[in-house]
Amino acid sequence: MLRVICYVLCENMDKMEKIVSLCKRRGFVFQGSEIYGGLGGTYSYGPYGVELKNNIKNLWWKMFVHDREDIVGLDGPILLHPKVWEASGHTTGFNDALVDCKSCKKRFRADHLVEEATGQNLEGELDKMTEVIKKEKINCPVCGKSDWTDVRTFNMMFKTEMNNVSDDQESIVYLRPETAGAIFIDFKNVLDSTRVKVPFGIAQIGKAFRNEIVAGNFIFRLREFEQLEIEYFISPKEKWEKLFKEWLKLQEEFAIKLGANKKDLRQSEHPQEKLSHYSKKTVDIEYKFPFGFKELYGLAHRSDFDLSSHMKASKQKLEYTDPKTNEKYIPHVLEPTFGLERSILVALLSAYNEEKVEDGDRVVMKFPKELAPIKVAVFPLLKNKPKLIKKAREVYDMLNTSWQCEFDDHGNIGKRYRRQDEIGTPYCVTVDFDTIEKDDSVTVRDRDSMKQERVKVDELKDYLTDKLK
Ligand code: GAP
Repeated sequence: MLRVICYVLCENMDKMEKIVSLCKRRGFVFQGSEIYGGLGGTYSYGPYGVELKNNIKNLWWKMFVHDREDIVGLDGPILLHPKVWEASGHTTGFNDALVDCKSCKKRFRADHLVEEATGQNLEGELDKMTEVIKKEKINCPVCGKSDWTDVRTFNMMFKTEMNNVSDDQESIVYLRPETAGAIFIDFKNVLDSTRVKVPFGIAQIGKAFRNEIVAGNFIFRLREFEQLEIEYFISPKEKWEKLFKEWLKLQEEFAIKLGANKKDLRQSEHPQEKLSHYSKKTVDIEYKFPFGFKELYGLAHRSDFDLSSHMKASKQKLEYTDPKTNEKYIPHVLEPTFGLERSILVALLSAYNEEKVEDGDRVVMKFPKELAPIKVAVFPLLKNKPKLIKKAREVYDMLNTSWQCEFDDHGNIGKRYRRQDEIGTPYCVTVDFDTIEKDDSVTVRDRDSMKQERVKVDELKDYLTDKLK
């Protein structure tokens, strides 16, 4: 039994290593500041990674903003007034539990250390964690010794300095640890400048920064990442339980659109005593990553905590007036939140396939077509035949106005197919001698079935439009 578990675990981690390697080899994701030895918890997105990332953002924006009448967009700043984070409770409460190994000086998240060693979830219980670490003589995962400091809190916000923050020349500002803050403080501006009526949502995509004690698992836990968040404002009288369930369903649907298998998703409700300082109810959508079921997305009922806190701290009215009854109230809020990098990881893990084919093995990224970084690759059969190149260029120019396309004349056709398979290109179009001399048709090869079809050049755009729907 143990052998089977080890085998499954190794196989899963093996898949993760293969994905990390493919991401670097094929220009999806690179370690941040790599030439200086790397900066932990930061990554760059290469030419295909940035396309994938943008396609995921566009898919989300279409599903939650453009396709809905009740949600509008916002793009707020990363630097917000420091009072925002005081009012929201982040300055005092946005902490993780830190423990240092006195022997090798490495730092760990105490709750993760305890959970990995004993299976207990003691998040938020500092004294209990110190006691368990010492009593159970938990070994340091790096040096193997058991010589620990007491567990203490560590604020995860990144601080920086800014000139003239306010009249009192306060200079410490924070890089936002979540995008939500900007939405709450612009709530009134959106109300006054649009025709939104409760229930309605404000959506935002953008960077967030957290000084994670331990970043890791590739792009799963980062110090700089992006969130896609919606604050969905409802009346305090609204029966929110039904809406809450509907939002969870939509979040799962989005993960499935990325390629996730439904059986790899599950919901996990936070116990009452472990809720964030602002939350009335929180459910995580977890995904079965190679390193276990972990949080992919979250849904929280934040009640009127944020608007009330900002109203009190800013002394500005952040109420809503019901247009029918004239009743004034502070809306409550449901907050579906999505991590972009975790979405990218799900898309990569779900797309990765190794297959045996006639001429050997192939790795193929079977991204949903909407997410594929390149939609169509165009090849001339041979590199050194000007007539073929000219015709292939014409075909490329015709298609490139509609889709992200790539022209490739390097190496033999087999190698070009393998390369496009590894970046997940759904269709490859080859221009050969028959195209020029006989039938003005090209060969279109399908990524998943590897089947090839001859298609007339003047029908090619319609053919691909239909296939890429
Ligand atoms: N506004 C609520 C909020 O920020 P959260 O659960 O702390 O809630 C939301 O974060 C989502 O952001 C998570 O579900 C996850 O997808 C992503 N996320 C959080 N911390 C992250 C990190 N260090 N690296 C990458 N993604 C992260």
